[in-house]
Amino acid sequence: MLKGKKIIIGITGSIAAYKIPILIRSLIKEGAEVKIVATKNALEFVTKITLETLSKNKLYYDVFDKDNDYSTEHISMAEWGDVLIVAPASANIIGKYANGIADNVLSTLLLAFTKKVFIAPAMNTGMYKSFPVQKNMKYLEASGIAFIAPGYGDLACGTVGDGRMEEPAKIAEILSEYLNRGQDLKDRKVLITAGPTQESIDPVRYISNHSSGLMGFELAKNCAERGALVTLIAGPVSFTVTMPNILRINVVTAEQMKAACLGHFEHNDITIMAAAVADYTSEVIAAKKLKKQPEKISIKFVKTPDILAELGKRKRSDQMLVGFALETDNELKNAKLKVKNKNLDFIVLNSLSDKGAGFKHFTNKITIINKDYAMKVFDLKPKSKVAVDIVNEIVATYKK
Ligand code: C5P
Repeated sequence: MLKGKKIIIGITGSIAAYKIPILIRSLIKEGAEVKIVATKNALEFVTKITLETLSKNKLYYDVFDKDNDYSTEHISMAEWGDVLIVAPASANIIGKYANGIADNVLSTLLLAFTKKVFIAPAMNTGMYKSFPVQKNMKYLEASGIAFIAPGYGDLACGTVGDGRMEEPAKIAEILSEYLNRGQDLKDRKVLITAGPTQESIDPVRYISNHSSGLMGFELAKNCAERGALVTLIAGPVSFTVTMPNILRINVVTAEQMKAACLGHFEHNDITIMAAAVADYTSEVIAAKKLKKQPEKISIKFVKTPDILAELGKRKRSDQMLVGFALETDNELKNAKLKVKNKNLDFIVLNSLSDKGAGFKHFTNKITIINKDYAMKVFDLKPKSKVAVDIVNEIVATYKK
């Protein structure tokens, strides 16, 4: 249900604009109030009268139109909407938004809008895959903008490939899920670790692992979207995140991650240890590059501190602690042992034996095991959706 929810749809010039009247209808049927913003090019594909009749609201298409309700329509509209979806989104609007350009109704509104923005791109495959579009999308994504990925299929240009705007029914479902989720972590303080650590051997070499950090970053973005104040302690990863309620702290080694975690733990309500902390570090870091040996080389490794276990010891009854486990064998047994031994509220198990799950994958397949050993098994899905499942579980457990 979308009763009382205020949705703005921004339409740009793409043939997929012909599907927007269907999207408007389904949102209105669910009880939403809808306002439409259309660029001049969008109106080559869909008419003003169609959009106004279906949305039951005046169309905003000209910054200087004398019929606008307010002289600063982009500001009043930005205050009005709970969510803004750009669909279909052309390469042009994505580029403008990523670079702060405000030269038409929609690009201006996007800059004035401070709440959640969704973007459903629609364009030719080559344009979609081009490096400037990919770079702009990556930047916007890191800023908390949600992309509704286009599908594969026939394109208006006569080719077949990625670039078809997602179907209106699916877009409506995504908006509905978001608007009904709300701010269930409002002002909660959440500490999240992400990525690998690197343990130096000499000035040029280190040992590490394949963790990309994606799972931890998706968790941070999801918690922040739900109103939390997030501290994200990240090992060396390639991601950026620029949401105002995420404070990022960069670390390299397990020892640095421990110092950062212990410094912040007591001030947080919820802690999620998603980092793949190295279990061993070199006993000594050679001052000079180790010379190549004729045969074997031996390096002595010593154990790193178990940060999660230490946090478990310090956990107060008003705090919640979540760990991760990546196992290759005896996974359930080991995960259960960790929940107890490390005093966790629950553990997220991902197994390397599941195809498409774990390191370097865009997707993950998890099982959540709580302190009573109750288990929830989830399907393989994108890590952004896995993050939603994990945070839902946190919210449900935290309230108890
Ligand atoms: O015991 P194991 O390393 O498999 O546990 C994994 C969990 O422990 C993860 O949540 C990871 O972030 C955390 N961990 C830690 N300190 C270490 C190693 C792992 O906090 N030295």
